[in-house]
Amino acid sequence: MTAQKKTGPDATDVRPAPVISVIGTGYLGATHAAAMAEMGFETIGVDVDPSKLAALSAGEVPFYEPGLPELITKHVASGKLRFTADLAAAVAEADVHFVCVGTPQKAGSHAANLTYVENATRGVAENLTHPGLIVGKSTVPVGTAARLRGIVREFTPSGIDAELIWNPEFLREGKAVDDTLHPDRLVWGGASAAADAVIREVYAAPIAEGTPVITTDLATAELVKVSANAFLATKISFINAISEMCAITGADVSTLADALGHDARIGRKFLNAGLGFGGGCLPKDIRALMYRANEIGANRVVGLMQQVDEINMGQRERVIDMTIEALGGSVLNRRVAVVGAAFKPLTDDVRDSPALNVAAALHLRGAQVTLWDPEAMETARRSFPTLTYSASMEGAIEDADVVLVLTEWDEIVEASPAALAAIVGRRFVIDARNCLPVTDWVKAGWTVRSLGRPTPVTGAPVSVAAGTYDAVATAR
Ligand code: UGA
Repeated sequence: MTAQKKTGPDATDVRPAPVISVIGTGYLGATHAAAMAEMGFETIGVDVDPSKLAALSAGEVPFYEPGLPELITKHVASGKLRFTADLAAAVAEADVHFVCVGTPQKAGSHAANLTYVENATRGVAENLTHPGLIVGKSTVPVGTAARLRGIVREFTPSGIDAELIWNPEFLREGKAVDDTLHPDRLVWGGASAAADAVIREVYAAPIAEGTPVITTDLATAELVKVSANAFLATKISFINAISEMCAITGADVSTLADALGHDARIGRKFLNAGLGFGGGCLPKDIRALMYRANEIGANRVVGLMQQVDEINMGQRERVIDMTIEALGGSVLNRRVAVVGAAFKPLTDDVRDSPALNVAAALHLRGAQVTLWDPEAMETARRSFPTLTYSASMEGAIEDADVVLVLTEWDEIVEASPAALAAIVGRRFVIDARNCLPVTDWVKAGWTVRSLGRPTPVTGAPVSVAAGTYDAVATAR
């Protein structure tokens, strides 16, 4: 196929740059559309949600992503970027169509819900008025793209040349703009020579920067993405499993991870032990992988991912148990300050957030939970309106019986433990992200509990048996 404008190549064979449509303007799509505009292409973002479209057209991003509002504002103003609900008009204008809709976990199952991807692909195919390249970016189970090709064949008007390839996306929330403009690698699968030329033209800027390009078949491209997320999840669950041994033996998992990380074959990234992974990607992707692996009889993958998931969910239990223990056996009516609701820093995303999950579980056990997060207050409140929310970290911590650090925001990592010691009810902190400068906190009279880091000597009673928590408070 050749993705070219309706006008076709001119007499001198200088083709105009392809116009891009991006179907779905969530995290992936909004960022991808802005990046396409930044790379110089006329880009049309398409979504079914009119309020999202109105916000994006005004340069407002309905989620917190550093740098994205600025980039969208810049290109809405430059005229390179538009947003519309009119799929047919966008497809008629564009040459390359990126499918960026969500593939959430199906209700009541581990499988991915592919309805949005199927509908978007069909929507593009049936509205094609000239040759088009359909590029799938959504995270899908292996075998999906081959099936989608059937949809493209069935619904593309006869006589029109259409091709579907798969080009997974590896962006991280919080770093989405930079990851999209300057990716680690570009991967696409299933492209004919003509499609390969078009997609290389689209990614000319990162390719010119030296970004490695891996071209492959559809199945490999799909699997690269889920395997990357599965590997990251496995790395986190590995260090969390080891952190349990550290907790039992008095070893220090942070030092251990540093030492492991110096081995270039291992690397230090994604070896931070703690509350474990959450968010809209890793948890649902390992479950979808488990489901697909089971379907096709790849049983070892099923077993491995099951363990990764179980270790991860077990970390939440560990923190709940530590809190109960810190409060002498019951959290009922005790004041618990929770710092952090987002699934990680630099985002307001609370989808499958370990932090919010722990906060809610303690609330359900009768604790008086007061929560603060620098960005995720609104999203958290929408998910759990019954928790108490404080407008400031100090407000949440004031008079608390125990402080839980559940997301490693700079605000808490850099906070003065002495200042917080003066307002808290009882100087007891559970550092569930192993992120606090423990020695400073201990010096300020805090008792610190971590996941797999030994508790430094406080010089004050740290007994947490039932009824003895006042003794701990004497550390002040
Ligand atoms: C993840 C992948 O990192 C991206 O490459 C991928 O493109 C994206 O999913 C996706 O599929 O769209 P993201 O969900 O933004 O990105 O979050 P990560 O930065 O991977 O963090 C995931 C979770 O792991 C967070 O809850 C974080 O706190 C936790 N984590 C991370 C740890 O517990 N320990 C670590 O050492 C690192």
